[in-house]
Amino acid sequence: MTKKRILIVDDDPMVLKLKMMVLRSQMNEWEISLASDGFEALALMEKIRFDAVVSGIEMPKVTGVELLNQVRRRYPHVIRILHSEQTNKEVSFRSVESSHQYLVKPWGFKQFITTLCQAFALQDALNNETIKGLVAKLPSLPSLPSSYLELMEELQSQEPSPSEVGQIISRDVGMIAKILKLVNSAYFGLRVTVSDPVHAVKLLGLDTIKALVLTHGVFSHYEQIDPQCLSLEQLMQHSLGVGSLAKMIAKAEKQDQDVATDAMVAGALHDTGKLILAQGLPLEYKDVVIEAKEQNIPLWRVEKEAFNTSHAEVGAYLLGLWRLPVPIVEAVALHHEPAKGGVSGVRVLTAVHAANVIEQEEQSQAGAINTSKLDGQYLVDVRAGDRVKVWREQWRHGLKGKAVNDLYSPAKVV
Ligand SMILES: [Fe+2]
Ligand SMILES: [Fe+2]
Repeated sequence: MTKKRILIVDDDPMVLKLKMMVLRSQMNEWEISLASDGFEALALMEKIRFDAVVSGIEMPKVTGVELLNQVRRRYPHVIRILHSEQTNKEVSFRSVESSHQYLVKPWGFKQFITTLCQAFALQDALNNETIKGLVAKLPSLPSLPSSYLELMEELQSQEPSPSEVGQIISRDVGMIAKILKLVNSAYFGLRVTVSDPVHAVKLLGLDTIKALVLTHGVFSHYEQIDPQCLSLEQLMQHSLGVGSLAKMIAKAEKQDQDVATDAMVAGALHDTGKLILAQGLPLEYKDVVIEAKEQNIPLWRVEKEAFNTSHAEVGAYLLGLWRLPVPIVEAVALHHEPAKGGVSGVRVLTAVHAANVIEQEEQSQAGAINTSKLDGQYLVDVRAGDRVKVWREQWRHGLKGKAVNDLYSPAKVV
């Protein structure tokens, strides 16, 4: 196996030395280069092909965000990690586009190495010729919704304003309908009907809005799918339910707000690959769906036999192309096989894996087929074996589930 090449950029020689020491334990698998500023880093990247760049934020000449933006444009395959000595909300927003991961002190050495290992594992898993070959056969992949890009631009501005976010959403008619429907659902218990998107944004919060904008962008691309192959309505309901529950789980496990937001987005998009396969290979996919139902085998296992890949990997591949953060892409790629991501505590992947199964079990009607199972050993390994009961209770009593139910007609299990 070829060694991974990592470039570390920091203007503080002490920090550089420290990082070298941290990474020494990985020297058999990694090759480390150092640069003391952004110009030196870019010059090195012209000569050497790196797999990852790890940069500090506060640097003179070229800031970490500016450097990683350049890296993103010139070398999109390279994993980009930013780290900072302190939490800075504005930088955190600005870093969303430029970096895959944003680490804020106090991050431990272990977390630093784990972050890089996970990013490499995912890169290798998705850099798979089968997925590329399959995707090449498909007529088209949706592009990142323009309303999402506009939204992120506003969130990264000096002073993001809910009213501007509301204005951006107002320009997308389909989006307005979805958001107003959610805000007027039973969850909010409002006595009056809200008809103003700006007011809706203030009530729902920006994380829900982000998840809705992406989900709507993806689903609107696939309106022509044959309902015999896949029910869009059921999948939309399942996806939003998983997003809501994954966020609840992250919060119940005292994860920070960024993890809860990523869990919601990843949950809402976790089955995107089903849409891609159902539209791109309608006849083959219909056979796969029928076989999974008749044999009572998880859909992703039958997909692997038929296509040598699964909806989880195909969906993650798309989100990787969209450069969504690594924890989201990882959660989508491994939501049926979380143990493959290694054991490093509860994270976005854990929340989405559990939410996917719990949502299906709780929504399923008597006699419906339900083949997805929780990976009990994985949950024990991340010390969450005894938490499933709590999460299930949260779903049962959680008002979010009710809100999702109110959005669509009653579900049958997908
Ligand atoms: Fe799935
Ligand atoms: Fe699912």
